[in-house]
Amino acid sequence: MTTEKNIVIEQHKRFSKSTLWRIQKDYFDRAGVSAWVNQVPFYITCNPFIAKSYARIFLGFMRDWMAKHPETRQHPFYILEIGAGSGRFTFYFVTALHQMMQQAGMHDVRVCHVMSDFTRSNMQYWEKHHAIQPLVEKGWVEFAIYDMEAERPITLVQSKTHLDHTTLINPLTVIGNYIFDTSLNDLFGVREEALYELTTSLETPQDNMDGNTPIEMEKVKVHYDAKKVASEFYGDPLIDNILEKYRSELQDTVFLLPIGAFHALGFLRKLANNRLLLLSTDKGNGALHTLDGATTPPIYFHGCFFSAMVNFHAIGEYMQNAGGEYCLQTPRKGIKTAVFSCGFGLSDMGETQRALSDWVEGMSPADYFTLHRRMSDTFNECQLDTIAAHMQLAGWDPHIYMKLASRVRTLIKDTDRDTLNFMTAGMHQLAANFYDMPKTDCVLFEVGLFFHTLKNYAEAAKYYTQARHFMPENYSLSYNLGLCLHYLDNDTAALTHFRYALALNPDAKEVQEWITHIEQEKDALPLMKEE
Ligand SMILES: C[S@@+](CC[C@H](N)C(=O)[O-])C[C@H]1O[C@@H](n2cnc3c(N)ncnc32)[C@H](O)[C@@H]1O
Repeated sequence: MTTEKNIVIEQHKRFSKSTLWRIQKDYFDRAGVSAWVNQVPFYITCNPFIAKSYARIFLGFMRDWMAKHPETRQHPFYILEIGAGSGRFTFYFVTALHQMMQQAGMHDVRVCHVMSDFTRSNMQYWEKHHAIQPLVEKGWVEFAIYDMEAERPITLVQSKTHLDHTTLINPLTVIGNYIFDTSLNDLFGVREEALYELTTSLETPQDNMDGNTPIEMEKVKVHYDAKKVASEFYGDPLIDNILEKYRSELQDTVFLLPIGAFHALGFLRKLANNRLLLLSTDKGNGALHTLDGATTPPIYFHGCFFSAMVNFHAIGEYMQNAGGEYCLQTPRKGIKTAVFSCGFGLSDMGETQRALSDWVEGMSPADYFTLHRRMSDTFNECQLDTIAAHMQLAGWDPHIYMKLASRVRTLIKDTDRDTLNFMTAGMHQLAANFYDMPKTDCVLFEVGLFFHTLKNYAEAAKYYTQARHFMPENYSLSYNLGLCLHYLDNDTAALTHFRYALALNPDAKEVQEWITHIEQEKDALPLMKEE
């Protein structure tokens, strides 16, 4: 079973049955939220910009739907977020949505955002999260375990509601970011108007195996074998029609078919009376012609996981075959955002169309990310007005601010008053956007430093105090807080923080001097009174 020093893991498997998917799932299950520490990228789909874009689209959709079906206003709109992962997207999305609903006077409309994942480890993280808890308390967010590969009832943890045809009176909105690239796919090829299925065989060096699992995915070699097949491959016309279209319209290529997405959408359609709105962002193919001419399957191996380019075109065709429509952004470099419906059309929904034209076809999450990357490389050349404008575009995103905070502090003193006022207002928004994740720095401390640099000691002390919850054993934080409290004439509290700082760093001379200084002033006080 071995070739040279390689071990054969499996041979001639249909791709969706490959053990690769099991390995992937085990990884997410084991890693839980730590998957996002230097392993699985998350920023691109979990930032305030994309969240606000989705909120605008969903808001437009709700308004269009209620205008067409006024009687449904009294029923909740459910959103099911599949593979919610870290929860960072949820936080920004739900917050932005409720702010927009308030501005639009939609106080009576109920929206329930269901965060779901197949693994409990992610849910356990959300349960205790400082930013998610308040959303749950307000009744805006619920949790559920939902595995795209299983057709099990979806029961909301908090209210015990089942998502089914009796509760889903309004269409079910499904959000799936960076999930269809990690869920089951099959592989096909087209050559000379014939359709082929590609099966996979896997091998890897023997010392790359831990039990029956490869340690580093990059060291797994995949071999493909092609076998001619008929386009009535699945016996499901919704899917087989897509294969037939590809057989007749593509010239010479290999492509992925997102069979896991089809199965999940089929199940959710049953629950939701065949009415779904789906929003998704991922690495993927949009237009049909972009699927042609591929010589190798678009599958990529990373440290502990792998990803596959999402065939958004096929998802669009599937939803259209189920009586819907879809909007795929025109191809551009980077990730793709796509919106699909089934059971109803999108083209006669005015507000939805406007939002799609502005935030999917127009300034999309991919365009934002491209700009952000360029900015990250060059912020040291930027003045504060440019940085402030970028922060505004980014929705005062802590992830970005942490990269340029030290540049901001060096520029504060020489900047004009308007820019400074703009930055100052944004700082409160930045703090409100803090979403704690393992091994991320605490932006509350940086917001404190901003106000400290401006000698606004009250605001600085407020944010330093909030930061203590997330970085309790930090010398600089305790020392800075001591300083601010001293300048605010609260020497008793200042002493407490200086002493704590000294305990954390017994060699720190400056803190020792402050303690001595305050203690001497305290001792001198009664004498002065006597005089
Ligand atoms: C790449 S992460 C994306 C997380 C998040 N949506 C984002 O954009 O950062 C994939 C997520 O899907 C979850 N997942 C993997 N397989 C799943 C399945 N079969 N059903 C539901 N969730 C799944 C993983 O636990 C993980 O949270």
